[in-house]
Amino acid sequence: MLDKLFFRKKSHEQKWDLDDNIPSHVAIIMDGNGRWARKRALPRIAGHHEGMKTVRKIVKEANRIGIKVLTLYAFSTENWKRPREEVDFLMKLPGEFLNTFLPDLIKENVQVRIMGKKELLPIHTVKAVDQAISQTENNTGLILNFALNYGSRDEITAAVKAIGTDIKNGTLDPSQINESTIENHLMTQGLSDPDLLIRTSGEVRLSNFMLWQLAYSEFWFTEVYWPDFSEDHLREAVSQFAQRGRRFGGV
Ligand code: FPP
Repeated sequence: MLDKLFFRKKSHEQKWDLDDNIPSHVAIIMDGNGRWARKRALPRIAGHHEGMKTVRKIVKEANRIGIKVLTLYAFSTENWKRPREEVDFLMKLPGEFLNTFLPDLIKENVQVRIMGKKELLPIHTVKAVDQAISQTENNTGLILNFALNYGSRDEITAAVKAIGTDIKNGTLDPSQINESTIENHLMTQGLSDPDLLIRTSGEVRLSNFMLWQLAYSEFWFTEVYWPDFSEDHLREAVSQFAQRGRRFGGV
């Protein structure tokens, strides 16, 4: 069902031949790792580890489909409230992911970025992501944007502060402030807004994720836990997106 309507796949290795309307930017709230693990009587970190493998699969498929930007909510500003061992494990995952998959990502022309407050991350996490960012900065394929220690309210607060500083310094007059002024101070500066937001695990909320940027995005929810999220699920979401009529407030 998934492939019929909007994709004709020429061969396994080739990009999807698109008939219509592929989302340029897809953002994903990867939820349900803990419940996936609990269902199997495993520790929560086993769910996160399995979730990391799903990230690899989905990046590859997103690239194949022709998605330009994939933003993944990997750690929120609120996730520090979790038990210490879980936080430590989550902080090691970007390093493990990049140690394992960076050569493949480079071959696939993927550009790695992060958004979030880097200063609170452990040094080993920062090193791993900085290395990946610098090794992929000239790549022109899919942008893989990890939201790491990211919170949208925190992002907007920082933007307001920076704009306030510009006003105080006399470089900006309040009458000049428009939507672009705000966008240019967000962590997504230079990226288009997500066309499609996916959240897994049956939860139907934004959890402080990209509140400004998701204003006109299409939402797609699934009961599937993130470790079980597959290429087929991504194609289903993209296929349903392609059938939606987006009006951006118009008719
Ligand atoms: C939410 O599930 C998931 C997270 C807070 C972490 C997401 C991280 C990954 C999927 C791995 C990241 C990989 C890389 C490469 C950085 P939950 O733990 O809240 O699940 P639950 O609601 O079932 O408890």
